[in-house]
Amino acid sequence: TKRIILDVDTGIDDALAIGYAAHSPELVLLGITTTFGNISVPEATRNSLVLLEKLNKEVPVYQGADKPYARELFKPYSRHIHGEDGIGGCFSESPLRSAAEGHAADFIIDQARKYPRELTVIAVGPLTNLALALNRCPELPELLDRLIIMGGAVTVPGNVTPTAEANIYADPEAAEYVLTAGFNLTLVGLDVTMQTLLPQSDVDAWRGQGELAEFMADMTDFYMQAYKNFKPGIAGCALHDPLAVGVAIDPGFVTTKPMHIAVDTGDSPTVGRTHEVKSGEVPATEMSAGAARAGKTIDVCLEVDAERFLRHF
Ligand code: BDR
Ligand code: CA
Repeated sequence: TKRIILDVDTGIDDALAIGYAAHSPELVLLGITTTFGNISVPEATRNSLVLLEKLNKEVPVYQGADKPYARELFKPYSRHIHGEDGIGGCFSESPLRSAAEGHAADFIIDQARKYPRELTVIAVGPLTNLALALNRCPELPELLDRLIIMGGAVTVPGNVTPTAEANIYADPEAAEYVLTAGFNLTLVGLDVTMQTLLPQSDVDAWRGQGELAEFMADMTDFYMQAYKNFKPGIAGCALHDPLAVGVAIDPGFVTTKPMHIAVDTGDSPTVGRTHEVKSGEVPATEMSAGAARAGKTIDVCLEVDAERFLRHF
């Protein structure tokens, strides 16, 4: 089994990722850390707590960043995709538990120190908590076994702008800092997640299998509709965040290529874009000094065995 922390902006596909991680015998979910992104951070925390109650899992939830690392909030929340409440309008009760004491970034650091070279962090929201953790603990890349990020679009178009994917776009400076810091890193971007579509028939098959399954199906139907509106005729809704969990369970779900990745930051017209730079051309900005030092590539997912993953999911 693998010890993991899941960093989320819960969000419907985040919620599916939490369910998948919490019910996977291959993984030990040490905690959930939350960030702004699809919704505000208190809402992400609340949704994560509600979900864990429904899953009957006593996993601690640590609240994290409420705005980007080096700028003010500038990407609107994605309520049109995830619902007013972030979980498809399915939120009804208040969670019984509250968030654990302490900041998400500190929890990540504590656990990395407690389990040196054993911990996998799976980040499926903006990368702000990871950037804060890295800033507080520069040796974090050496302490983690692996960092798996759902984010970016290296060989395909973006989903919030023609060039940018939502998680990277929401905090491009954090993304640049984290992607170039020398982590043992796998990037699960739109390159593969847009090929990992959950069909409506699968969601329909969850019906009639108890309260939890109905809740998951209600939530996912909302998300499915958003995908149908976004791309009429699409074969299903994208399992972005669950695929990142899948890669932690079985790296064989994807095929990767080692690359140096740069992130467009600041007021660049293509802000949030993730693209390959050949080694030797790695931008020597102040923030990417860590990467230049490490000279390390990251594993970018380029292909996915969607059928096998979907069956496991
Ligand atoms: C990513 O953005 C969020 O809306 C989803 O939860 C996912 O993490 C996809 O671009
Ligand atoms: Ca997410």
